Amino acid sequence: MTTKTDVRILLVGDSGVGKTSLILSLVSEEFTEEVPAKAEEITIPADVTPERVPTDIVDFSYQEQSEDDLIEEIKKAHVICIVYAVNDEDSMEGITSVWLPFIRRQIGEDAGVPVILVGNKVDLIDYSTGEAMEPIMQDFAEVETTIECSAKSLRNISELFYYAQKAVLYPMVPLYNTVEKD
Ligand code: GTP
Repeated sequence: MTTKTDVRILLVGDSGVGKTSLILSLVSEEFTEEVPAKAEEITIPADVTPERVPTDIVDFSYQEQSEDDLIEEIKKAHVICIVYAVNDEDSMEGITSVWLPFIRRQIGEDAGVPVILVGNKVDLIDYSTGEAMEPIMQDFAEVETTIECSAKSLRNISELFYYAQKAVLYPMVPLYNTVEKD
């Protein structure tokens, strides 16, 4: 098994769930109401990441990008965070009706690219959506873990990116399909 020398994290999810806000909150350690549609791609240098590996964080926005751009980014990603808003049922529903099937269609089920389900905006509710994520984890083996966070209160922001790094560096899903294909 080769050791990864960098980690590329892609954030996808319905419009308005807070993908850009999560990235900007991580970088600036404060929440800004006004964010651009898409954050510039950023590279966190190795020495400030917990696992000492340079980490690219990539935002995706349908407002500025096409489906072809999305497919290209999915193929380049080492780990994909599907972000939903905990107060938005439609964005939760989209995890299984849109995002996970779409990702599978691009890279297959056994690509070894872990997926993390990220429930953002926990500052707006006083219950957990964790239980609703459990059946999804059972049905989709590529889902490695789930986390609830808030770009606004900064809760679990650094943890989210740490989980993503760890999912790449210490994979739990098989890296290769052991069944040989013709
Ligand atoms: P697209 O670019 O359309 O895909 O949206 P996005 O997923 O990047 O969402 P964005 O970061 O633009 O945030 C959408 C709205 O949600 C903005 O008004 C943010 O201020 C707000 N928002 C983002 N994160 C949080 C959060 O943790 N809590 C609350 N209360 N609002 C948030």
